[in-house]
Amino acid sequence: MAPRTVILDCDPGTDDAVALLLALASPEEIALEAITVVGGNVGLERTVSNALALVDLAGAGVPVFAGAARPLLGAFVNETRVHGESGLRGAELPPPSRVAAAGIAADRLRAILRDAAPRSVTLVAIGPLTNLALAFATEPACLSAIREIAIMGGAIALGNVTPAAEFNIYNDPEAAGIVFASGAPITLVPLDLTHQALATAVRIEAIRAAGTRAARTVAGILSAFPPSVKFEGKGFPVHDPCAVAWLIRPDLMSGKTCHVAIDTTQGPSRGRTVIDWWGTKRAPNATVLNRLDADGLFALLAERLARLP
Ligand code: BDR
Ligand code: CA
Repeated sequence: MAPRTVILDCDPGTDDAVALLLALASPEEIALEAITVVGGNVGLERTVSNALALVDLAGAGVPVFAGAARPLLGAFVNETRVHGESGLRGAELPPPSRVAAAGIAADRLRAILRDAAPRSVTLVAIGPLTNLALAFATEPACLSAIREIAIMGGAIALGNVTPAAEFNIYNDPEAAGIVFASGAPITLVPLDLTHQALATAVRIEAIRAAGTRAARTVAGILSAFPPSVKFEGKGFPVHDPCAVAWLIRPDLMSGKTCHVAIDTTQGPSRGRTVIDWWGTKRAPNATVLNRLDADGLFALLAERLARLP
């Protein structure tokens, strides 16, 4: 099968870094056309320079486009508690050799979609959804070119930045509302699944043993999470690579179709993904994944990182 044409929208971010390297290491399945970057885990200046440094690490030349520095509405919130001030705690990368490509992420998204055949482009969104929402709201016609949007975000059960909300959706609920109301085919990879993707000491050492600089960098990142992030004392959740892995090994995950609404109120549930898991009310607008073969995921990571420099 020919690889999918993919645009990766990200906010690197430690787990974004792993996701980005997994995508760049998988050309049989993923033809990465562009990387669009949003402010999120850290400010935009850092997420852009981190993305560029990671493309260098992979020995790739995919263009990186800078996008939104803040959400559509409200204040910007970051996640330096998890990812460190640099956004890439545990990685030691030289400064990027290139600068971002000319243009704005949302504009580049629209241009790629405008020129593409119907249902031919896959978007992977692993940060706040501001860039996607800006593109969709300003040029809805471009939606017809989307084959699928794989989104890491939200939760069926509890959130991770508030009791109700997960970070990517909480950072820009209005943008998430636009994306989920767009009618584009969405696969959601929520916390309920990614909390099964736990980097344990054994799994980290298996990645390190892959031996490449990319693998050692990922092992360094996964070894540097603060103890407070350890999920139920078992390991560190590696959220974003799950959305990329869905495109490579969909057999590793399962879930079901259901309706997802976004809470954009100002109350304690702001940013919650309201997931109609039992199909009580509205027609499905997404496939929501909740089960993961975690050993399969980490084996895939080690195998693919061994292919990079
Ligand atoms: C998500 O939030 C970010 O901190 C991670 O990069 C991931 O995309 C998990 O809630
Ligand atoms: Ca992210």
